[in-house]
Amino acid sequence: TNNDSRVLRAELLSFDADPGEADTPAAGSVRHIADGALWIENGRIRAVDDFSRLAPELPAGIEVVDHREKLIMPGFIDSHVHYVQLEIMASYGRQLLDWLNDYTFPEECRFAAREHAELLSAAFLGEMLRVGTTTAQVFCSSHPVSVDAFFSACHRRDLRMLAGKVLMDRHAPDALCDDTLGGIRDTERLIGDWHGKGRLGYSLTPRFAPTSSRAQLDATGGLVRNDPSLWLQTHLAENTGELDWVAELFPGSRDYLAVYEQSGLVGPRSTFAHGIHLDQEMRGRLAERGANLAFCPSSNLFLGSGLFDRLAAREAGLNISYASDVGGGTDLSGLATLKAAYQVGQLRGQPLTAWQGFYGLTLGNAQALSLHGQVGRLAPGMEADVVVLDPAATPLLARRTARSRSLSETLFALMMLGDDRCVAETWAGGRRVHSRA
Ligand code: GUN
Ligand code: ZN
Repeated sequence: TNNDSRVLRAELLSFDADPGEADTPAAGSVRHIADGALWIENGRIRAVDDFSRLAPELPAGIEVVDHREKLIMPGFIDSHVHYVQLEIMASYGRQLLDWLNDYTFPEECRFAAREHAELLSAAFLGEMLRVGTTTAQVFCSSHPVSVDAFFSACHRRDLRMLAGKVLMDRHAPDALCDDTLGGIRDTERLIGDWHGKGRLGYSLTPRFAPTSSRAQLDATGGLVRNDPSLWLQTHLAENTGELDWVAELFPGSRDYLAVYEQSGLVGPRSTFAHGIHLDQEMRGRLAERGANLAFCPSSNLFLGSGLFDRLAAREAGLNISYASDVGGGTDLSGLATLKAAYQVGQLRGQPLTAWQGFYGLTLGNAQALSLHGQVGRLAPGMEADVVVLDPAATPLLARRTARSRSLSETLFALMMLGDDRCVAETWAGGRRVHSRA
């Protein structure tokens, strides 16, 4: 038998489409197999079926990993996270702009050193895989070496990851600011070395409007125009103090979004983190371009930024992705992100169903990031990145999920009570990359 071929036997759950907002998922949106077989070969999914139906087709002696009583889903996706902020998570005090100056900028200065960047890249990926996240769109620091360290660590583990060097040429410590066009040249070098290598993609990363000059934003737009296969990530309308500052810095722009539009930064591969303080007209402009807003609920609660209006975004036809935004976020776990999203939704009268939540972490995020051809579903040909969840991981969860009358109740209990203890295993590229046992 082929060493690179094995079957995972478990309960399987995957989405084929948006399940909608109703308690009952839209017809055809959910694929659920109570006793399923996921056949993995050479890093990809070869077949997905009932175990009993697939068993006769399997080669004699193929390894069957028995995960009955466990639930396998596509590996979770985090659309916005800062690996360089891992060690300043949960730093007390105030809102965005003070938090950036007091904790974030000094911390990111440390990533000028290759050894530190390598150490933290490994630590960050270890934490991601421990919580079942196999793909993320990641901010590095402004130092090119922070990107080389991160991409090499991902490449060694054969992970599908997007990342980029922060572009910021003003309003931060000198040790963190790049040169307006020097930052662009460094970016071009990094794109050449990493974009499309293995499962890696480059995401252009102007930090946010206040820390880039118009010249740097324009040059970034030039890179997008030259190569539409690049991704782009930045922050937008997170905090009211930030809004006032942007208005002051860019008097020639009619609103915050216009600052990015004027430099050609709003496109189908652009992710704007937060987007809390927007009106419906601005949401419409984002939707028209096919951009997505990264909803970062634990960060928005921690930094007191505001309550994201998820249904207004949906109404505008805007793609929403879900993200931890660590270090502003308080938890890397996708389950914790859904719990915070539910709480934000409750405060807005917009409860989040477990269907919508888990769709968001998997296929929804994959679609928002244009990665749905590779990841986000359990289907033949897709890359074999999966999370093995244990709905009875703790005594409390075992009690709670024993009382569930439906899959939707179990999923909801997982998103409200679950954490890394529920992640029995994580697989990426067809290999086991984390195991709690
Ligand atoms: N806006 C600009 N930079 C940042 C950052 O590092 N974190 C968050 N949450 N918002 C930002
Ligand atoms: Zn962020």
